Amino acid sequence: MMYSQKVLDHFTNPRNVGELPDANGVGEVGNAKCGDIMRMYLKIEGNVITGVSFKTFGCGAAIATSSMATEMIKGKTVEEALQLSNKAVMEALDGLPPVKVHCSVLAEQAVRAALADYYTRQGIDPEPIVGKIQEVDHGDSCSACG
Ligand code: FES
Repeated sequence: MMYSQKVLDHFTNPRNVGELPDANGVGEVGNAKCGDIMRMYLKIEGNVITGVSFKTFGCGAAIATSSMATEMIKGKTVEEALQLSNKAVMEALDGLPPVKVHCSVLAEQAVRAALADYYTRQGIDPEPIVGKIQEVDHGDSCSACG
């Protein structure tokens, strides 16, 4: 399996790892088949994401994509973060092997789950804004993560 330099860089040196004690939006998503779990922490002030971190129990691509996703939404508005797609994360990493595409979906969904939690805490129903948080379909690639 061939990984780009950027994937390897974010895997070996992930950005924004850990918990964010004063987060006001926390989301967790998991993949039932591979068992990988991703938790995303957001600190949102005046509609801007001023703090972001993540914890991932998962494969190398899951770590690299969550690391890149945090870098891409840092300092952005909530609306901009909602636009983050797994495709954009993959492009920023110069691509992923096809069997690893679903890992980037986990990163996208973790951001959305954290935003949904943020809205819920404000007393706002998140579903019309964020949509349903999807259970990631692992396809037949789950052997990839052992
Ligand atoms: Fe399960 Fe990558 S997230 S193999």
